[in-house]
Amino acid sequence: HVTPEEAHKILDSDFARLAEECERMVHLGADWLHVDVMDGHFVPNLTLGAPIVRSLRKHTAAFLDVHLMVSNPAQWVSDFAAAGADMYTFHLEAVAGGDLEALQAAGSAGLPAVHDLVAAVKAAGMLAGLTVKPGTPVELLLPYVPQLDMVLIMSVEPGFGGQSFMPDQMNKVRFLRAKFPDLYIEVDGGLAPDTIGAAAAAGANAIVAGSAIFGAADPGAVMHTLRAAVDE
Ligand code: DX5
Ligand code: ZN
Repeated sequence: HVTPEEAHKILDSDFARLAEECERMVHLGADWLHVDVMDGHFVPNLTLGAPIVRSLRKHTAAFLDVHLMVSNPAQWVSDFAAAGADMYTFHLEAVAGGDLEALQAAGSAGLPAVHDLVAAVKAAGMLAGLTVKPGTPVELLLPYVPQLDMVLIMSVEPGFGGQSFMPDQMNKVRFLRAKFPDLYIEVDGGLAPDTIGAAAAAGANAIVAGSAIFGAADPGAVMHTLRAAVDE
């Protein structure tokens, strides 16, 4: 059982005071900082790129867990590695141009392009994560898991913070945990004290929380609650 990690999303923070916000959360107990990169194409929102990560890196030693919601994740690997990202998690749907049939047709061997991108992320010195949107079957991840450092299961449609948790997505977590007892399985979207139980019960051990933390009067207490639920 790997130690639960608390990844706190900076998407909900005050971007004009990003470094202070991040250091505040790390001081309050965050293990990782989850950085939501959105390109306005893969998702209908536009956030930040490698230059912001490079600036942030100068101000914090925290683990930077970068979530790429971009149409061409292969394009940004070297920029984020140079910027100091620690983990690079990209969407399976982006590699096959969203063509689920191509991913299905690849069968148990998987698509070479996905294997190659995972290898490129690791060759660049970052940990490699792979993620799927709620509408994508979890089975499509299976050919790549042995190469991965983490799988991210989205519990909201990617694009925005503050959405409602999708409990049915925890079936994907349960499915993976049964097959891969030691895998980092991160959940992202709508995690809060009232939804963490379902995620922890399913076997998630890396928790992303944005609005539940940044909107809290006592973010440290919320972090403690989330971590305790996973630790049980
Ligand atoms: C959504 C992002 C998530 C989201 C989580 O596309 O990947 O990280 O911002 O925010 P909350 O915790 O507020 O649902
Ligand atoms: Zn995210």
